[in-house]
Amino acid sequence: MIIKILTLFPKMLDSIFHHSILGRAQSKGSVAIEAVNIRDFSASKHNSVDDYPFGGGCGMVMTPQPIIDAHQAVLKNITSDEKIRTIYCTPKGKVFNQELARELSKEKALIFLCGHYEGVDQRVIDELVTDEISIGDYVLTGGELPAAVMIDSVVRLLPGVLSQEESYEDESFYNGLLEYPHYTRPREFRGNNVPDVLLSGDHAKIDEWRRCQSLKETWLKRPDLLEKKQLKKNEKKCLKKIQEALEKEEM
Ligand code: ADE
Repeated sequence: MIIKILTLFPKMLDSIFHHSILGRAQSKGSVAIEAVNIRDFSASKHNSVDDYPFGGGCGMVMTPQPIIDAHQAVLKNITSDEKIRTIYCTPKGKVFNQELARELSKEKALIFLCGHYEGVDQRVIDELVTDEISIGDYVLTGGELPAAVMIDSVVRLLPGVLSQEESYEDESFYNGLLEYPHYTRPREFRGNNVPDVLLSGDHAKIDEWRRCQSLKETWLKRPDLLEKKQLKKNEKKCLKKIQEALEKEEM
């Protein structure tokens, strides 16, 4: 996959993409990520990239020319038969989630546009943006951190990026549930023991325990996820047991 990020602050992103799984994914050639400085494309005398908003008001707006030219230069270097998605990071966008990460991970290339100040001139959005995406209902100072968040979650889904031990199939949200709890050595820590079933060596039992714990975590922390999920017969049974046990604890 090719990922280009149009930004005024490329250095903000460089270190993030050279560490851990993202760094490894780039070394292996699964993804090539490049931050492109919008300012390098400014045609104005002082390389300016923003101006006062028409109609008044506070803050500055990013001007269209440097962004459109940067975008065109980036597009020229990507060969693809399909339309390349250009994502504008904005709190006004559709809220990002695992489903959207999975959808984006199927693309050959992605372009992220990071806004700053009061945002970008609307004509940029009208002309080249295919997706407006938010990472949550709060406002950040720019689109760089949201772009990094989205890129991290997309890249780890690319084939061959995670090793078998790191695979995402058991992770939260993969199957619409939160992940079960994990334990490692020591078996006993400050009087708290690892659940017996995990030491039993019975993999069928361990799988069942994990599925039930997953349902319990989801029921307690994100019951809204269960409303969207079609539970299998054994999952319904397990959830009922959990709910009854929790009710008893409350009494
Ligand atoms: N830019 C500023 N805030 C943002 C958010 N919450 N999501 C995406 N881009 C943003």
